[in-house]
Amino acid sequence: MIHKYVFGKPFPTEAVVTEVPAAEGEPAYGTIETKEGFCFTYVMEDTDIVYGLGEANRGLNKRGYCYISDCTDEPNHTEDKRSLYGAHNFIIVSGKKTFGLFFDYPSSITFDIGYTRMDTLKVSCGDADLNLFVIDGDSPYDIVKQFRKIIGRSYIPPRYAFGFGQSRWGYKTKDDFRHVVKGYRENNIPLDMVYMDIDYMQDFKDFTLNEENFPDFPEFVQEMKNQNIRLIPIIDAGVKVEKGYDVYEEGVKNRYFCRREDGSDFIAAVWPGDTHFPDLLNDEARAWFGGKYRFLTDQGIEGFWNDMNEPAIFYSPEGINEVKEMLKHFLENEDYNSGINAGTLAVAPTSDTNDSGETDNADWTSVWPLMGKINGLANSKEDYRRFYHMVNGKPIRHDKVHNLFGYNMTRAAGEAFERIDPGKRFLMFSRSSYIGMHRYGGIWMGDNKSWWSHILLNLKMLPSLNMCGFLYTGADLGGFGADTTRDLLLRWLALGVFTPLMRNHAAAGTRDQECYRFEGLEDFRHVINVRYRLIPYLYSEYMKAALNDDLYFRPLAFVYPEDSMAVQVEDQMMLGNEIMIAPVYTQNARGRYVYLPEEMKFVKFLPNGSVLEEIMEKGHHYVEIALNEVPLFIRCGKCIPLAEAAESVDLLDTKHLSMLGYEGAEYVLYEDDGIGKEYDKEENYRTLKKEK
Ligand code: GLC
Repeated sequence: MIHKYVFGKPFPTEAVVTEVPAAEGEPAYGTIETKEGFCFTYVMEDTDIVYGLGEANRGLNKRGYCYISDCTDEPNHTEDKRSLYGAHNFIIVSGKKTFGLFFDYPSSITFDIGYTRMDTLKVSCGDADLNLFVIDGDSPYDIVKQFRKIIGRSYIPPRYAFGFGQSRWGYKTKDDFRHVVKGYRENNIPLDMVYMDIDYMQDFKDFTLNEENFPDFPEFVQEMKNQNIRLIPIIDAGVKVEKGYDVYEEGVKNRYFCRREDGSDFIAAVWPGDTHFPDLLNDEARAWFGGKYRFLTDQGIEGFWNDMNEPAIFYSPEGINEVKEMLKHFLENEDYNSGINAGTLAVAPTSDTNDSGETDNADWTSVWPLMGKINGLANSKEDYRRFYHMVNGKPIRHDKVHNLFGYNMTRAAGEAFERIDPGKRFLMFSRSSYIGMHRYGGIWMGDNKSWWSHILLNLKMLPSLNMCGFLYTGADLGGFGADTTRDLLLRWLALGVFTPLMRNHAAAGTRDQECYRFEGLEDFRHVINVRYRLIPYLYSEYMKAALNDDLYFRPLAFVYPEDSMAVQVEDQMMLGNEIMIAPVYTQNARGRYVYLPEEMKFVKFLPNGSVLEEIMEKGHHYVEIALNEVPLFIRCGKCIPLAEAAESVDLLDTKHLSMLGYEGAEYVLYEDDGIGKEYDKEENYRTLKKEK
């Protein structure tokens, strides 16, 4: 049962696509204050669990911290961070009273979940203009399914997107790409996609190709396709300001860019230098920007990733001017001049010895605001108040709808793909998102680091994202920032085996991270082979989840709600209806403890290609898992299909599948052509049996 409460004048986010009539009166749970902004308060029982928030920091149970939905280009995912790239305002309180809440509000909104007071949930935002959906149900799982129904079917990628992808910021030439493909093909490590980061563009201009490095691009795309490799280019949110550049000229002429209050086009510096942001909340501008993807689809490209769409801003001219003013004031300041030599400004102003050997004492307090101002240039809240969207002829200040920008960039692409080739699926995932975007694309988890703790963060986020509709998702395997290590990459890949998006991506300047760069590369081949062997199952479970508004990853608590032990497990997940995963995420570990809520079959893919199967009783176990092994657990009485490995998804033989699991069990396999949209055909389903 879903009740919708309307406060003030909500902005139409189009997150919810089903008509839910507005309810009368007050919600059945908590109290609401609308005197100053909006505040929902609910007092929790000690044992209540709070799920949800999608791409948010910390655990699966969100209690004990404060999270802010405020799409942020945040490259340091440390535990103290309150905002990441997405804004997914759906939570479920599970306990004495169990209910779901969706705060459909497009600006910054704070979820204090037992942070200020351990027993209090407080959700607050600046304006009392929002739709609040309150969902009653039998269980958290039931509530999630109801919620998923009203937000519409999740994005379905083409089947090849379940293959393995290699990415790196820094591949510049055709030969760089050929080299990567060769590295995988010659070493028989499966690969389906190579990602093109910003260097493929001419001067980082969207919808261009570097002329020197990519002549005859359609031939190159075909050359790659002949090897069953898809090239997946990045598209950034900002359009370079440059006279004569068609995208810029058209945008300016038609007023498709976000504007300042005085009507001039707003400037933000990103990778290309000065850029304008397309006004993606404006229907006409969105259709125009989406149409630009044609530049690449016409040349054979079938998939993209959308980036920098929080939108990320390195600085604005206004911000720079403010720094200059502050610096001027600072340098003119009498106290400062008598205290410290201006030349030491760039370094931390501790005490300094001047030429004559005397010691100057710096005034920390006057330097810090300046340093703060400089550090605060990027992604500044001030800048988000400096530009406007035109929605139905009316200006709306960006900060009021900030969390919808990435969503609408991906929507622009998704709507364009419908026009370009309505019968075909395109690969699309984004960095920033809001609920609603899940209908147009997936997301990747942004700029993580080569840290062990980030494997666990990746794992815990998966079911939360699924609850909010984001099914096609995964993290940069091996870690984006910082130098990876062989063991970290192997362990992370062994989790990536199960995430719909399986991509190795790394930042420029970090250690080479392609699998063939490491010693003992047969281990990498083995782990990625396991992924390909499991694709019939993973794809089938993904499709069932998408077509039934269901979850691909579920917390154990959703499957074993009566088991007080299972309810607390956060480092094991159910995947589809048949299996449980329990990856190793600890440095130097030779295995890990697992909790089995029922008897299960422990399956270990061994490096020689064989599979070890062992029935394990309900309860706690320590399982040994070597660096080059991939574990999973099959639920009691169930079985899964297994293919032979192949170098690409298109070459998988799904006619001859073997079955793993319990004898006599049956599995309903979903399979289609992987690229079209005829999902509802009966012949897409077939029942397989594990013979005795
Ligand atoms: C951003 C993206 C990252 C990409 C880089 C360069 O940091 O998150 O994936 O490699 O920009 O385009």
